[in-house]
Amino acid sequence: MQYSLKMQGIHKHFPGVHALDDVSFDVEAGSVHALVGENGAGKSTLMKLISGSLVPDEGSIEVFGEAVRFRSPAEAQHHGISMIHQELTVVPERSVASNIFLGREPRALGGLFIDYRALNTQAKALLDRLDVRVDPTVPISELSIAQQQMVEVAKALSYNARVIIMDEPTSSLTERETATLFRIIRDLRADGITVIYISHRLEEIFEISDRVTVLRDGRTIRTDATADLDEDTIVSSMVGRTIDTIFPKREVEIGETILHVDGLSGNGFRDVSFSLRKGEILGISGLVGAGRSEMVRGLMGIDPVDGGSIDLFGQPVTTPRVAGMMRRGFAFVPEDRKEEALFLGMSVRDNLVVSLLSRLFRSGLIQYGRLGEVTAQYIDKLRIQTPSQGQLIRNLSGGNQQKVIIARCLALKPSVLILDEPTRGIDVGAKAEIHTIIGDLAAQGVGIIMISSELPEILGVSDRIVVMKEGRVAAQLDRTEATQDLIMQKAATGGGS
Ligand SMILES: Nc1ncnc2c1ncn2[C@@H]1O[C@H](COP(=O)(O)OP(=O)(O)OP(=O)(O)O)[C@@H](O)[C@H]1O
Ligand SMILES: [Mg+2]
Repeated sequence: MQYSLKMQGIHKHFPGVHALDDVSFDVEAGSVHALVGENGAGKSTLMKLISGSLVPDEGSIEVFGEAVRFRSPAEAQHHGISMIHQELTVVPERSVASNIFLGREPRALGGLFIDYRALNTQAKALLDRLDVRVDPTVPISELSIAQQQMVEVAKALSYNARVIIMDEPTSSLTERETATLFRIIRDLRADGITVIYISHRLEEIFEISDRVTVLRDGRTIRTDATADLDEDTIVSSMVGRTIDTIFPKREVEIGETILHVDGLSGNGFRDVSFSLRKGEILGISGLVGAGRSEMVRGLMGIDPVDGGSIDLFGQPVTTPRVAGMMRRGFAFVPEDRKEEALFLGMSVRDNLVVSLLSRLFRSGLIQYGRLGEVTAQYIDKLRIQTPSQGQLIRNLSGGNQQKVIIARCLALKPSVLILDEPTRGIDVGAKAEIHTIIGDLAAQGVGIIMISSELPEILGVSDRIVVMKEGRVAAQLDRTEATQDLIMQKAATGGGS
């Protein structure tokens, strides 16, 4: 058996964190190897050691039988290892081709100028190999996240990568885009390329991987052939205990109407009407691009609306604005949390209490001790992994950063909570935790609007489901009548049955 990678006795410390503790990890050449574990288990850190962006404190790494010690991503790339990071690192204003060959552009006239014709031809050849139909000359920012993801794969190929690491590549892809990525992964494997694949979606692991390694608290728990595993075994290895990943929906008494939206229109959504009652969880489903995020952003007053009316607790809201909506008890967890919601240079505590603070400032009552208490409470409730409240949020793992944003909104004790893809990038244990919290809030009378692209989540949590298609409401379904098939049908065709 040939191994593309062998790691032995790997340790990595950060201040206050033993991120990797005696990890061993072997990957067979030409296989798809999945790496799973809870948020903060050490997956990204381990991959950064292989791809040269971090150096291990201890331990050995062999690449195709050769002992290596990478001090930079360039050295790892030289050995055929390429990593596609959890957060994409593209230069938005540059073209697709420039992004693929950044810093390595073919040159003309003795190296004085970039040879754009050669650049674009070479980029096109790589994209063709992946069967990705994208114009190499357009700015990469014009591409969807999925297409940018494919460009990153093309970039990896441009380094003649023999090992490609994908750190949660599908967290913002649609099902169809995921299928395309999987086709590409299978083609890569057929060409003898090794793919290391990180995901919190276990059904993907079963679909695409040959072997699975589970990490927990920085330790390797097990490595098995995927065919020998089932979902329960993976989950209990990940969390170290057996958990129910599906919580029965909590039965809550639904109260009076608190929000009524009538004919709301704006950029990307038209004539949207629905109402929300006390204690009700309203799921919003639809394909990516159906205008779901745009609609709630309009409702929240983040983006302008150009028509329709909003009635809140029987009072008309003429022009929604964020500050005013928050004062009226709205809280919002946006889809793009990293870009929009995190203050990367600030601590976990400050990120968690920032919205609460502005409220307390207004009331003239700031109790700093209380802020620490609130933070401690949510760190515990959502099991946010951090060495201290003062840790900079940029040092937390991707999923733990997400949990902080959700905690920020929960701490506001809102009367209407809007969540856009609340469990994207969040591990199975914490996901169940978040569903329980949503259920508890509903029981306390909070009205909840939840956008989710995961149908099991929508079906499991919602009382009522609004299905959007092309910016409009295609259907409103009660939980008793909703099924995956019916939602998909409404989302795709708007009609049917
Ligand atoms: N630069 C850093 N400074 C300090 N601590 C860090 C740093 N990078 C990672 N950590 C810590 O190391 C641990 C492992 O983090 P890592 O990002 O590898 O987790 P992960 O398994 O990728 O989680 P997720 O599923 O949330 O992405 C976490 O406790 C994290 O807070
Ligand atoms: Mg990670």
